[in-house]
Amino acid sequence: MIGWKEVNERYGVTIGGFIGIIADSNKAGKKMIEILNAEYSYDNHDYPVKAVDDVTLDIKSGEFIAVLGRNGSGKSTLARLMNALMIPDNGRVVVLGMDSSEADNVWDIRKNVGMIFQNPDNQIVGTTVIEDVAFGPENLGVEPLEIRRRAEDALKRIGILDLKERAPHLLSGGQKQKVAIAGVLAMKPACIILDESTSMLDPIGRREVLETIKYLNKSEQMTIVHITHHMDEACHADRVIVIDSGKVVIQGTPVEVFSDVEKIEKLGLDVPQVTRLLHNLKIDGFVDDSRIIDIDSAVEKLRSLIG
Ligand SMILES: Nc1ncnc2c1ncn2[C@@H]1O[C@H](COP(=O)(O)OP(=O)(O)OP(=O)(O)O)[C@@H](O)[C@H]1O
Ligand SMILES: [Mg+2]
Repeated sequence: MIGWKEVNERYGVTIGGFIGIIADSNKAGKKMIEILNAEYSYDNHDYPVKAVDDVTLDIKSGEFIAVLGRNGSGKSTLARLMNALMIPDNGRVVVLGMDSSEADNVWDIRKNVGMIFQNPDNQIVGTTVIEDVAFGPENLGVEPLEIRRRAEDALKRIGILDLKERAPHLLSGGQKQKVAIAGVLAMKPACIILDESTSMLDPIGRREVLETIKYLNKSEQMTIVHITHHMDEACHADRVIVIDSGKVVIQGTPVEVFSDVEKIEKLGLDVPQVTRLLHNLKIDGFVDDSRIIDIDSAVEKLRSLIG
């Protein structure tokens, strides 16, 4: 295990500097991730694939971004570029001012941009929940007392401190994903990327995880990048980014993005159920505006229609 002194020598970060990075990065509006003309290809010899193709994006600190796109469109590759698990072949990815192509920055970028993956079982490393959550800060070389404090704090913040002595593999899928989120939180990241982390969960588990990430975003101003196939989840984001064949093809607020029903469907995606209903009513001439994505507004619209 390495201590902060070694971390400082090896990676050029001090505890104060590190906390400063987080404190600074959480000031809403500051640039969290800048992607400039990034390209990434998998070199499959006979069949090379350009998975990310000339993507330019800015993600601001405190934003909640939803990323949509059909299977194989490049979402996971883009996510891996964002936390320096992969480095672009061309273009640049800059996280909190740190260019991912510089080897010295990779460790700091990964610490600041935590990833939660699809299968909660693949992320379990401890025999108890608290051990599991402590694993990340342990590897950062944090002092044992501080590790315990951070792990308990992370569990408390997402409301599962009561599970701390439980065996993670016996928890529900939603609880396991919350443990994985707590594990990332204990490393004090500025941003969390969830790569289809709700796709293996039942509706209750999905809701729990969505509420957790909404809480972290709204109450703790944490930057969230949520890759999902569920349109209802994307509706909670500040901005929706649609990827197709490695390119950003649409971006805007959820209402802006989903109101173009034909375009979304052409990209192999769905729109929220109420948007589809209002869209069909518009085609039939019953309403003039189908720019609605939430149930309450849809009910109001339908009520006014009935009179
Ligand atoms: N390790 C790999 N080796 C070779 N090609 C890969 C590899 N990983 C992904 N690809 C290819 O790169 C493209 C983008 O894949 P990626 O996993 O980023 O898409 P995705 O949008 O996350 O898909 P999904 O919705 O299925 O998770 C696809 O054509 C895929 O086949
Ligand atoms: Mg993927």
